[in-house]
Amino acid sequence: MNILSPSILAADCARLGEQIDLAEQAGAQYLHIDIMDGMFVPSISFGMCVVSSLRKYTDMIFDVHLMVEEPTRYAADFARSGADIITVHVEACSNVEETLDWIHSLGRKAGLSVKPATPIRSVEKYLDKIDMLLVMTVEPGFGGQRYLPASTERIREARKMIKEKGLNVDIEVDGGITKQNVSTVLEAGANVIVAGSAVFHGDIGQNVRDMMAVLNAAETGKPAEI
Ligand code: DX5
Ligand code: ZN
Repeated sequence: MNILSPSILAADCARLGEQIDLAEQAGAQYLHIDIMDGMFVPSISFGMCVVSSLRKYTDMIFDVHLMVEEPTRYAADFARSGADIITVHVEACSNVEETLDWIHSLGRKAGLSVKPATPIRSVEKYLDKIDMLLVMTVEPGFGGQRYLPASTERIREARKMIKEKGLNVDIEVDGGITKQNVSTVLEAGANVIVAGSAVFHGDIGQNVRDMMAVLNAAETGKPAEI
């Protein structure tokens, strides 16, 4: 199933609830929440209190992307705050397998993410331990960057590895996804689409409807009318 996961990093934080309502009403299924620790990436974003406040506000699936060094330190806090999917970076864990097991033991889905410069093959041995693979399509740390074209081949390779192993793992893409290039990543094998600027800048409802039209069309094989 194709899923849209709007990234609140691009939202107006003073109007977060309102803007999330618009995205949800227009058909977005997940909410992508970027957690940055100022170490794994230079910037700092949201903490547990934002997640737990939003949890009381909406039933959307919380797709929490931990751009955090040694994420085992925080996985339980985010699970408690209301995360449904907890994604960690392969580059940030001293023991990837233990980290994924820890997330599952908390009763949450586990995602594993790779930065653009990390070989995609480095996640192969973990594929049977994850629910979602997050292929970063920009260098993590900031919203509003341009999609790295080399990502398309990486998504294709990831989908091939998952298929060869007969696994049912979602492939999420994150960074620089727009109405114009979303069909490229879908065609390459991604099925969970993060979009920050492309959803929250401009008319949120219309942006989500346009994106969903492409996602749904890719599933049914009919061309999207946007
Ligand atoms: C970047 C974050 C992304 C970001 C995407 O480090 O992980 O989730 O919000 O923003 P856009 O869609 O604007 O590139
Ligand atoms: Zn993200």
